[in-house]
Amino acid sequence: MPYLLGIDIGTSGTKTILIDPTGSVTAKSTIEYPLYSPQPLWSEQDPEDWWNATVGTIRSCLTQSGVRAVEVVGIGLSGQMHGAVFVDGNGNPLRRAILWNDQRTQSQCDWITNRIGADKVAEYTCNPVLTGFQAPKIVWLRENEPEVYAKVKRVLLPKDFIRYRLTGEYATEVSDASGTSLFDVKNRKWSAEMLVGCDIPASWMAESFESVEVSGKVNATAAGLTGLKSGTPVVGGGGDQAAGAVGNGIVETGILSNSLGTSGVVFAFSDTPRVDVALRLHTFCHAVPGKWHLMGVMLSAGGSLQWYRDAFGQPEKVVAGALGVDPYQILCDEAATAPAGSEGLVFLPYLTGERAPHPDPYARGAFVGITRRHTRAHFARAILEGVSFGLKDSLSVMQEMGLPISEVRASGGGARSGLWRQILADTSGVKHVTVNIDEGPALGVALLAGVGAGVYPSVEDACRSVIRVVDETAVNTTANDKYQPTYNVYRSLYPALKSAFHDLSSL
Ligand code: XUL
Repeated sequence: MPYLLGIDIGTSGTKTILIDPTGSVTAKSTIEYPLYSPQPLWSEQDPEDWWNATVGTIRSCLTQSGVRAVEVVGIGLSGQMHGAVFVDGNGNPLRRAILWNDQRTQSQCDWITNRIGADKVAEYTCNPVLTGFQAPKIVWLRENEPEVYAKVKRVLLPKDFIRYRLTGEYATEVSDASGTSLFDVKNRKWSAEMLVGCDIPASWMAESFESVEVSGKVNATAAGLTGLKSGTPVVGGGGDQAAGAVGNGIVETGILSNSLGTSGVVFAFSDTPRVDVALRLHTFCHAVPGKWHLMGVMLSAGGSLQWYRDAFGQPEKVVAGALGVDPYQILCDEAATAPAGSEGLVFLPYLTGERAPHPDPYARGAFVGITRRHTRAHFARAILEGVSFGLKDSLSVMQEMGLPISEVRASGGGARSGLWRQILADTSGVKHVTVNIDEGPALGVALLAGVGAGVYPSVEDACRSVIRVVDETAVNTTANDKYQPTYNVYRSLYPALKSAFHDLSSL
């Protein structure tokens, strides 16, 4: 039987899954690694940690399943987007990678935008230059670590560094390349104008493929380390959002996803490269050949609840330990006892700055409206609601753009909570559904590998044969009405507090 391997180089760890053509997961393995924040707003990881985790998870999947290397017919790579891995002429990292949620590059974003012109940047890339994206990180390196910059021969995205280690090829694919500020998203190729405008050598960029195309084959060294067969094809794969969308079946018009991981993302398929006039959403190439997607990215979605659990959730952790359940379950059970709207307590989820719809590295989190009436339950619920309002902000932009919306698929760790799914449906006014498999980007790229290896005729066929809706959360219209005034207050708070956030950041 043919098997497909999907590898996702995530921020908390690398997850690898092995599936058969029906989508049944034969084995999976995750290995975690640290994230370094050597200065405020900085976020870095060691690419060697990704590689060790890749090798370890592949070996574990092969051992657990007993599948023979010769039966693995295709490999797909996914990963955290936007990161910059600077390598020398031998493909070795010259420093730690600078990640998607690193916020050090506002002045480099301004420099690029002023030099090229905001309208031209939007024309060339369909997006503004944002702090998380790759190009400003390259400019930052030139300005701040010239001795490292002088040795750079290539700049890779996280999963493409792993591809180099697996295959010896410098290659990328269109969905991840879209998040560099150096890619011509409309024409699905590197933008000569942006590269020249940023003074970045075109030779530093990897060759770009469509996500289902074979980009290289496992080489002898990687085969020896992982247990894979030398010559196994590795397809382009996808950035974690496009890949996760494939793994969730977001491959046709009208079907959107709301995903609640560390970040929170509203993702919509599009036949054409549609661009929001105010550039509040990202317009990127999809992992479906010749298609695009629109996406609104919040930086702290599940990350907000994780922060609350770690900073204040000691009592919930104790109860969870005694009952043998996850602390998040206790937090959500508690939140369910507070009424919709949290009796006027509003949470702003900008704990690590924000991207959509307010691209602002200096935005901060806040609880607004605290009274003596508010309990732990209200605080927990306000977090679930504040994050849901943030996602509604992006969904509303898609509605304004006239994007058809028939169904939203909820995914990611946060969507395992029935309460949070209900709040998503009630705040947005759109029904949310879940699908039979929740393996995220690793599943998406395993399916892309299946298309590349000829197991499925197309990405759409792969999704149709593997993914189906299993559960539906309808909108409670009473709650939907009740949320509207609270959402109006929520929307007014960022503009009202923006200058205070900036002042606080400069202290
Ligand atoms: C997408 C984004 C995040 C990262 C990390 O634009 O920044 O989703 O890819 O998951």
